[in-house]
Amino acid sequence: MGIKGKNDCVGDGWRAGQAVGLRLWLHPLDLAGPGGYIGGRRVKLGSVIKSKMLGVYIFRWLCELLEVVVLQYVCHVLVFITVLLGTRYYLGSHAHPLPPGPWGVPVLGYLPFLNKDIHIAFMNLARKFGSVYRLSFGNKMLVVLTDPKIIRDAFKREEFHARPSSALYDMFDGYGLVNTSGVTWRDQRRFLHERLRALGMKTTGPGREQMEVRIMSEVECLLQCLATGKGKAMEVGELLCNASTNVMCSLLMSVRFRPNNPNFLRFMELHDEGFKLFLKCDITSYLPVCKYFPSVNENFQKLIQSRDESGEMIRNIIKERRETFDPSHTGDILDCYLLEEHRAKEEGRVLFEGKDFDRQLVQVMADMFSAGEETVKTCLLWALVYLLRHPKVMHKVQDELDAVVGRSRMPILDDQQHLPYTEATLCEVLRRSTVVPLGTSHATTRDTTLGGYTIPKGATVIPLIYACHMDSQLWEDPERFEPARFIDAEGRVKKPEQFIPFGVGRRMCLGNVLARSELFLFFTSILHVFNLAKPEDEPLPSMEGNLATTYTPKPFKLSFIPREVSKIGNIDMQSHELRTAGL
Ligand code: HEM
Repeated sequence: MGIKGKNDCVGDGWRAGQAVGLRLWLHPLDLAGPGGYIGGRRVKLGSVIKSKMLGVYIFRWLCELLEVVVLQYVCHVLVFITVLLGTRYYLGSHAHPLPPGPWGVPVLGYLPFLNKDIHIAFMNLARKFGSVYRLSFGNKMLVVLTDPKIIRDAFKREEFHARPSSALYDMFDGYGLVNTSGVTWRDQRRFLHERLRALGMKTTGPGREQMEVRIMSEVECLLQCLATGKGKAMEVGELLCNASTNVMCSLLMSVRFRPNNPNFLRFMELHDEGFKLFLKCDITSYLPVCKYFPSVNENFQKLIQSRDESGEMIRNIIKERRETFDPSHTGDILDCYLLEEHRAKEEGRVLFEGKDFDRQLVQVMADMFSAGEETVKTCLLWALVYLLRHPKVMHKVQDELDAVVGRSRMPILDDQQHLPYTEATLCEVLRRSTVVPLGTSHATTRDTTLGGYTIPKGATVIPLIYACHMDSQLWEDPERFEPARFIDAEGRVKKPEQFIPFGVGRRMCLGNVLARSELFLFFTSILHVFNLAKPEDEPLPSMEGNLATTYTPKPFKLSFIPREVSKIGNIDMQSHELRTAGL
């Protein structure tokens, strides 16, 4: 019966074929006349008809039998193919389900449900959906990771090393480092890592003093500027920005600027504007159609103009340097690139997969500025916020500095290992403020699995560093600012595996050694020379910040009251002028 049912729908063609076959079989017998010849003999019509009818019946019976067999066969094949494909689908890339996650609305996905503190909203979603969850942002699938072990597992795997692509990121055309993927990223990262180490960015060993000298030049200038405040209330955001930018300028191209240098001010203005415009245009990464909205399009054009103008400034510096370049002396990253260009020409090697050399160099410089300036400044600002709110911690750090460093010199990098409480305080600042709360987005290059889930190719993967640092399962009373949590029973600094301010894996922060050295030298030097105080008529700084590319404290004022520094010696700002080229 079942087969018959199927015949009703599939068998029409078969029946038509059967009719044609019958006709062809009957034709040689010429049934049209009253009689006929078989094998040259005339035979009677009645007996012919009888034998033909029998033949027809047999034929029909055979056909029906055949029909049933063929149909059964077809059905089996179809069922087999379906089972095969289903099994392949299930056991193959989709052996695991997609991560769970909240529903969104059509087209926009989860975007309308987020407020300004996305990192907090993301952490709350993890409580409901677990440590690997998914949500849609416009046309993109976001996979949020909140468990440090899972983040480590993912980011050591090659398929998680890419950066997401979108209309906004495509603006970089695969140039630079931070927003590149594949071969360009791997080669640039290796090149920069080696050259940064050669320029002293390492935790131990000879050569470290090169990095220390660069940083200390800026520390001393900063201390001078703070001293001119004479204990009055001051905002220090710009001074810290100037200091951390100058460290980067010195490292990249041996240039430093006074805070009021008009070119420097313009450069920083473009830098800030670029960040803001980038955030405004970011919506196009999820809703590409927004690019055609006049206001977004206008911001896009401004972003390109601002990028081109700051790029032109860096280009001028490169041009000047080319004229004086000496291959036997490489004092900064710019020299290292020019040397590589020089060598590649001599050896007939193609650099950066044939990309425009100057454009690549400009973009690498811009990437390093963006990555290294804002983060360090913001972290130092948070350190001031927390110490103003926790004067006991400040005094404990100062006591340790006085005991270990003494009052006759400034702290140096080699002191770091002997200052556990100071080091623990810096760790706690990095944990509690988590200046890059959402990490930097990665993207998958192929379908893969993670934590028992399928992560499809092209998903944007967010390592939620904030959740790793603020999870009450991992940290006791995570809201509390408590440096002692980073000290073990023997009084040594311990850094638990969930402490990942610089990210993890092959794409972790390239400048983490420099950043930690800067934080240490700026922080200890300020506390060695000044007491921090809340001005009488000013409120305590808020612990709430603003989330942009980094999580920044709200503007606040504080006073720097000089401690007894007579034996530390005079700081001579003029002697730290580096060459001023281009800008
Ligand atoms: C307190 C200061 C800093 C913090 C908290 C910080 C944090 C981070 C984080 C979380 C990432 C993303 C890692 C990932 O994609 O998984 C990152 C990437 C990066 N950082 Fe930092 N960073 C700091 C300072 C610096 C400095 C001073 C430099 C410059 C020398 C720098 C250069 C970079 C670069 C180039 C990348 C991109 C690496 C890549 O894509 O391969 N960072 N940083």
